[in-house]
Amino acid sequence: MTAPAGDLVVEAIDLRRYYRVRRGLWRDAATVHAVDGISFALRAGKTLAVVGESGSGKSTLARLVTLIELPTAGTLRLVGLDPVGADRATRRQLRRSVQMVFQDPYGSLNPRRKVGAILEEPLRINTPMTGGERRDRSLAMLAAVGLRPEHYNRYPHMFSGGQRQRIAIGRALMLNPRLVVADEPVSALDISIQAQVLNLMMDLQEQFNLAYLFISHDLSVVRHIADEVLVMYLGRPVEHGVKSLVFERPRHPYTIALLAATPHVEHGARGRSAHIRGELPSPLNPPSGCVFHGRCPHADERCRREVPEFREVDGRRVACHHTERIGTPIAAGNA
Ligand SMILES: Nc1ncnc2c1ncn2[C@@H]1O[C@H](COP(=O)(O)OP(=O)(O)OP(=O)(O)O)[C@@H](O)[C@H]1O
Ligand SMILES: [Mg+2]
Repeated sequence: MTAPAGDLVVEAIDLRRYYRVRRGLWRDAATVHAVDGISFALRAGKTLAVVGESGSGKSTLARLVTLIELPTAGTLRLVGLDPVGADRATRRQLRRSVQMVFQDPYGSLNPRRKVGAILEEPLRINTPMTGGERRDRSLAMLAAVGLRPEHYNRYPHMFSGGQRQRIAIGRALMLNPRLVVADEPVSALDISIQAQVLNLMMDLQEQFNLAYLFISHDLSVVRHIADEVLVMYLGRPVEHGVKSLVFERPRHPYTIALLAATPHVEHGARGRSAHIRGELPSPLNPPSGCVFHGRCPHADERCRREVPEFREVDGRRVACHHTERIGTPIAAGNA
């Protein structure tokens, strides 16, 4: 059931997810704006990378797109359908078309089941396939993710971290999803293994025409796999555009700082010395005006007062009052 290239798989329009939380024993409840106005469109065969520091709302966005949680506001369309308004059968079908891969492949694989059973479980629950058909399909999937037939009868603990993530990816693909939401899928792996798993994901994307929502706190990880990059900060979008623009001509001071803190392949061992000054503010008490103003070297009175519009500048969208003044630092990331 693969779609022709270019098909719209996800449309998110001004998605929001707010949580009511207690701030402490004696204080009133407050609202966390975990996802606060995120919009994007994602087509079959394409990867949108969502990047930001811890607490920026990436996993919350993943839970919205995978229908684990409903948005507080905004519209989500999966393969053209609105899951909120859909009937149960449609919602069930939509759930199958979106699958998730998590950071910790060991935690997400049942340690008491053999790999074959793990791969076949989605088929057992969702399809009328016979045992023999399921077995054939899971053996084919083992091969597709670079594992061998003899792995079928082994338990998850007998595999390396990279192999376990291959199993988790294989399981996610068993029901022919249109979209895979991968939340930090390689963050727990050694750098050398990361590249192998990313390459596998790119091969599978091409083979099955998959759309990927790829979440990472680390820009260097998404450098190869992304088509577009969406940078989030405290639940808000700060910059969103095609990868080449965001990496080569970043326009938001936060993107520029993230890139400066990211080791580049091209520039060798520059390390992470240029980290972003200041702390991430509390999401319970976000700054007025531009959410980044407290950490921004360019902030002025207007930034403290006025929320910047998320607007089109130089071929991408950016939420910064002063992006024209700052310009495009050619040497961004080389500081
Ligand atoms: N169920 C919840 N109840 C209350 N607050 C929540 C809930 N889930 C998330 N949050 C808050 O929403 C904000 C965004 O969290 P989220 O986990 O989406 O961030 P993240 O970008 O995935 O971070 P990380 O990189 O650490 O995984 C955080 O301030 C978090 O504490
Ligand atoms: Mg997360």
